[in-house]
Amino acid sequence: MDMERKMKSSITVIGTGRMGSALASSLIQAGHTTTIWNRTRQKTDSLAKLGAIVAPSVEAAVMAGEIVIVNVSDYDATKALLHSDAIGSAIRGKLIVELTSGTPTGAREAAEWYTKHGASYLDGAIMATPDYIGTDAGTILLAGPRAAFDSHSDVFRALGGNVQHISEEPGRANALDSALLALMWGALFGTLHAIAVCQSEEIELDELARQWSATAPVIDGLVTDLIKRTSAGRFASDSESLSSISAHHGSMHHLMELMQSRKIDRSVVDGYDAIVKRAIAAGHLHDDFAALSQFLAVGK
Ligand SMILES: NC(=O)c1ccc[n+]([C@@H]2O[C@H](COP(=O)([O-])OP(=O)(O)OC[C@H]3O[C@@H](n4cnc5c(N)ncnc54)[C@H](OP(=O)(O)O)[C@@H]3O)[C@@H](O)[C@H]2O)c1
Repeated sequence: MDMERKMKSSITVIGTGRMGSALASSLIQAGHTTTIWNRTRQKTDSLAKLGAIVAPSVEAAVMAGEIVIVNVSDYDATKALLHSDAIGSAIRGKLIVELTSGTPTGAREAAEWYTKHGASYLDGAIMATPDYIGTDAGTILLAGPRAAFDSHSDVFRALGGNVQHISEEPGRANALDSALLALMWGALFGTLHAIAVCQSEEIELDELARQWSATAPVIDGLVTDLIKRTSAGRFASDSESLSSISAHHGSMHHLMELMQSRKIDRSVVDGYDAIVKRAIAAGHLHDDFAALSQFLAVGK
């Protein structure tokens, strides 16, 4: 085991909150010498029992690892911890992997800073909850130099079975993360509306759950079709269209009327209506729903 450990890269994990602890724990289990640092030291206790080395300072932590994985709450916290002269001179030749959630701009700025200080930089988006980390279904998207990813594939494999390098462009993982979160929140806020409608009409939520199971494949098909049609620019209705803007708009108004009468917050649905109205005013009433994708830019 000790021989094996010596062969494997030494890793530092900065931030051992819920996600950082899962990352560190997977690395320890995979046999990496793992140094950790957390602002609140007591949150390192359980990892120390698993074999992590607890560093006395951020500087000491950064010095210890060939690869430094960062997972704190946001990029401002990362900057306050790492973007200093002392850390800048300690990271030359190391690989920094930022797994804190952030924006594409934040990732590009960070890439510039680390590269300027002689380090390689991969910026990642974790598309999973902590219980998925280290499992075959654990998905993490990474952007930055491909060579840095390829040289440490064993480390990334330890974090999950679906850790992918998606682009050399450092902002790409965060951009895709935001896109997928937009999709997720569409579904989750839609569910809140469905719950409110059912409760106001005294429909058991078990019934909603049953009908959702039947409807989910239809919605899944609509989402896939919308992405494909938009990608191909097929906005006019044709023989393969699943639904027109006009059909959606009619049903949307039934929902809006019901919500109004039951005093359910309509602000999100009114937002949908505003987009649809812009498209209709521009002559797209009978076009495919995908035509709405042209009306998201503010000012159109
Ligand atoms: N949990 C998830 O399911 C999930 C999924 C995908 C992505 N993520 C991302 O992973 C990151 C961490 O999430 P989490 O769920 O692990 O959150 P968490 O449990 O609240 O942990 C936050 C971590 O950030 C540290 N921190 C916050 N502000 C700091 C500062 N100013 N200086 C130093 N350390 C600071 C905390 O230190 P203390 O312990 O001292 O407070 C803690 O280690 C976030 O960017 C989140 O969006 C999480």
